[in-house]
Amino acid sequence: MGLFKFTSRPLLLCLPLFIGMQGETLIVAVDDDGHFTERITHFSKCYVKDADKDIIEAVKLKGRLVKSGTITHPYPFCPRSKTPLIYRAVPSWFIRVEQLKEKLLENNKQTYWVPDFVKEKRFHNWLENARDWAVSRIMDSIESFEKLSGVKVFDLHRHYIDHITIPSSRGPQFGVLRRIDDVFDCWFESGSMPYAYIHYPFENVELFERNFPGNFVAEGLDQTRGWFYTLMVLSTALFGKPAFQNLICNGLVLADDGKKMSKSLKNYPSPMEVIDQYGADAVRLYLINSPVVRAEPLRFKKEGVYGVVKDVFLPWYNAYRFLVQNAKRLEVEGFASFVPVDQATLQKSSNVLDQWINSATQSLVYFVRQEMNGYRLYTVVPYLLKFLDNLTNIYVRCNRKRLKGRTGEEDCRVALSTLYNVLLVSCKRWPH
Ligand SMILES: *[C@@H]1O[C@H](CO)[C@@H](O)[C@H](O)[C@H]1NC(C)=O
Repeated sequence: MGLFKFTSRPLLLCLPLFIGMQGETLIVAVDDDGHFTERITHFSKCYVKDADKDIIEAVKLKGRLVKSGTITHPYPFCPRSKTPLIYRAVPSWFIRVEQLKEKLLENNKQTYWVPDFVKEKRFHNWLENARDWAVSRIMDSIESFEKLSGVKVFDLHRHYIDHITIPSSRGPQFGVLRRIDDVFDCWFESGSMPYAYIHYPFENVELFERNFPGNFVAEGLDQTRGWFYTLMVLSTALFGKPAFQNLICNGLVLADDGKKMSKSLKNYPSPMEVIDQYGADAVRLYLINSPVVRAEPLRFKKEGVYGVVKDVFLPWYNAYRFLVQNAKRLEVEGFASFVPVDQATLQKSSNVLDQWINSATQSLVYFVRQEMNGYRLYTVVPYLLKFLDNLTNIYVRCNRKRLKGRTGEEDCRVALSTLYNVLLVSCKRWPH
């Protein structure tokens, strides 16, 4: 349920404690308006912030005053009403996570994380110390919502309840209470992603059943106690399963100077600028080749993205350009236009360099597929670099004569077709 804005009175910062069995003996000392309750007999009805003098006086009368004075210290204030905040116990709904602990630890074992130490250490330890999860944000039931607002509620989705207001308990001159934008415990919503995004169970039951648990999720290390956790708690409570099969946990992307990226400091280049300048593929390769995919921090450097362009895309592109130039040359020189020789014929090429690069290309496909299936993104770029080095510095360089037609038309077509095939296979998306 939503958070309601208390217009023009101290907003009480609510620290949810227990409900039901656990909190029955708890003494609630302060009421909704910040006044001591009947339980605090001597000061009941007194506003907590005005009670200091009387309390000091009472302690003094009993002869127990050790020292009286003033200490200056920071204090939390409501950013909206600028009034002081206090901590106060309120009834709250909890999810009994503690009862699920064994099952959570068991489900964690069924998932695959990159890097694995985040799963084995950080997340495991967090689950071992799991606490009941307070999800209420003030309004505790449909019943009390209806009672306070005088409106019958049939559906808790925002568009059905956002317009509902609650009259101020202090009288009509104080206006009404409205829901503010924050809803519920927002972690509950993020943890509900696998169901909520397709409106399960109200729709898409089959789609859901086919795709749950999800193949993989990816987020930052800081989500161990956030999203990764709430996904796991809710799926365990609802289905006894983890919500994902694989998880990539990434580190933080920091600014060039090692500090947090900050909009006000502008200590990082605009992502769109970098993409416009070097291309999205270069940014993508730069990131998957960085410590970020091993949950370690990365200092984002524009020069690093340029390095990818220089080391990966330019050589790759130059090999392609060389192919196109020489394919066109065939026509210019009066031969039939270039049509790649079919695979079966190519595989039979007796040229040892053709055989070698064909084999290296197959190995590349095999390697990338295997590593991507293992979610080890960081192994892919170093291998690709080595492959491109082999292609451009060995294959193309050693075959210039053949590719330029100096060893006869037939041999030229075989060499061009081999290069064509290598470039095609190395840049296309391979079906599983
Ligand atoms: C590059 O060529 C060397 C020499 O043949 C070979 O050992 C290596 O596996 C090749 N690497 C790739 C990634 O193709």
